[in-house]
Amino acid sequence: MLNNKIKINNKEYDFNEGETVLSVATRNGIQIPTLCDHPDFSVKENCRVCVVEIKGEHGLSTSCSAKAKPGMEIQTNSDRVEKSRGLNLEMIFAEHIEKCATCIWRFECKLLKYAKDYNLLINTFSDRKGKRPVYRFKNAVELDSSQCIDCRNCVDACSVLQGIDYLEIKGKGRNQEVVPTADVRKHCILCGQCALHCPVSAAQEQPNWQDVEREMKNDKKIVVVQFAPSIRVSIGEDFGFDHGEIVTEKLVSSLRELGFDYVFDVSFAADITTLVEAGELLERIEKKGVMPMMTSCCPGWVNYVEYYNPELIPNLTTSRSPQIHGGGVIKTYWAKKMNVDPKNIVVVSIMPCTAKKYEASREEMAINNILPVDYVLTTRELSFMIKKNNINFANLKESKADNPLGDYTGAGVIFGGSGGVMESALRTAQYVLEGPKAKLTKKRLEFNGVRGLEDVKETVVTIAGKDLRIGVVNGIKHIKELIPRLNEFDYIEVMTCPGGCIGGGGQPIPTSKEIVKKRIAGLYRDDTNSKIRVSAQNESAKEIVEWLEDNKLTHKTLHTKYFKNLD
Ligand code: SF4
Ligand code: SF4
Ligand code: SF4
Ligand code: FES
Repeated sequence: MLNNKIKINNKEYDFNEGETVLSVATRNGIQIPTLCDHPDFSVKENCRVCVVEIKGEHGLSTSCSAKAKPGMEIQTNSDRVEKSRGLNLEMIFAEHIEKCATCIWRFECKLLKYAKDYNLLINTFSDRKGKRPVYRFKNAVELDSSQCIDCRNCVDACSVLQGIDYLEIKGKGRNQEVVPTADVRKHCILCGQCALHCPVSAAQEQPNWQDVEREMKNDKKIVVVQFAPSIRVSIGEDFGFDHGEIVTEKLVSSLRELGFDYVFDVSFAADITTLVEAGELLERIEKKGVMPMMTSCCPGWVNYVEYYNPELIPNLTTSRSPQIHGGGVIKTYWAKKMNVDPKNIVVVSIMPCTAKKYEASREEMAINNILPVDYVLTTRELSFMIKKNNINFANLKESKADNPLGDYTGAGVIFGGSGGVMESALRTAQYVLEGPKAKLTKKRLEFNGVRGLEDVKETVVTIAGKDLRIGVVNGIKHIKELIPRLNEFDYIEVMTCPGGCIGGGGQPIPTSKEIVKKRIAGLYRDDTNSKIRVSAQNESAKEIVEWLEDNKLTHKTLHTKYFKNLD
């Protein structure tokens, strides 16, 4: 029998075959600092802040790469380790110009924490990258080279995870730099996965929280906020809640505390999206329209189609996305009901997504020259605002989102996970085709073939005697596997981020596959607990769609078009 034991700081611990020293230490509550290590990627050993001393070895070893071996004796905080780690950190600070005053990462910053832990002078060495540029990708993502510590996680995120290859390394040694590729055939799709995996916020969302604060100070404006389904199970992580814990009502209260005038839940708008999209699917089937129909609520995927496969534009559903539906309904139906001029309403979306910043700014979204959504904040930006305003999120009293845009179904909530948009549409398509009297059994409500974190999910669903061939792509990289086989499908969901929006580029850091699983489980719990689980049963959503029809606003508010993008 193997003696799978190692000693860390003179105490014995078990380890599993193949486990690293870092993993054994972390599992047992022994803190070792890390920057470049990320469970989604292979080990790169670039930052060297995780060094430890292994008895019998000449130099120090990086604990993120050193595999535990029987009898190994490790010191994680000897004088030698601390001295080397401190020096490595000071060298890293020389690469990372401190812009802490304006950095939304300052409450979470590992670098600042380590500087405190190791009593470092963060400007021992000069800011040698001070003059390097900031690269801005449309209005969504930016990469500040003057803050980059060369860990290369963003390059892995863009190439290995997403298969986009937009970022590359230029130069060698001290002169190396992460830059957007010079290859004009490659384009950033704004997914923000680079930002989600950057340990020091050099790659990040382009912030809009200052704009929102400014709007909230303007007495003439009604500032309305709407939050995406997935935020309810992710934002709690930034305030000490377990991964996947449902904190919807605390989230609503935090938004009120921040000073938003009205708080709406995008899960309601997701029900509207489902009504529109399921209706279009049934119409395409009946009228033999362009098939397979493909989802379009993920703007990262839409960007991908417009750049890389514009021949698929006719396949995309014309249905707008939930945030655009929500904003449109607020500035038409709700504005009328409240008797306010839509020009005086500011709509802010809280999204798990960086690409949604660009989607909201697309001029073809305008309804009578007014954009439905004015600003998009990521989950991280919202967490920052809550912390900056000293709001004690965990202790907030719970409160519910405002009505009439507050009633949502479980089918709206599951939009946040891979397969959720598909499952939501299938529930409604089935309900419409088989009739409201057919009993809604678990089998009819839960489409397990579209759930889970496999790269590509394929299933056949029989609705009213007809077989629908379904494909679900989890992570943009995998669309390439399906494109040669499109004629084998009737309906395809594509989500750019692994796991869907729950793993989106604007979500809390860290986000990893394991964390994504827990967040998705939270969404399904919320769905199962909902009294109504089919969007077609959401009476307020149906009423609003009818109101838009009566007021000849259906086309402008609910549908859109896409364009071949050559820039
Ligand atoms: S936003 Fe996405 S596509 Fe753009 S550089 Fe980052 S990872 Fe690559
Ligand atoms: S931008 Fe961030 S993730 Fe990319 S190499 Fe620099 S520090 Fe690492
Ligand atoms: S999967 Fe969600 S978070 Fe990611 S790009 Fe698409 S909409 Fe944004
Ligand atoms: S975390 Fe181990 S080298 Fe960076």
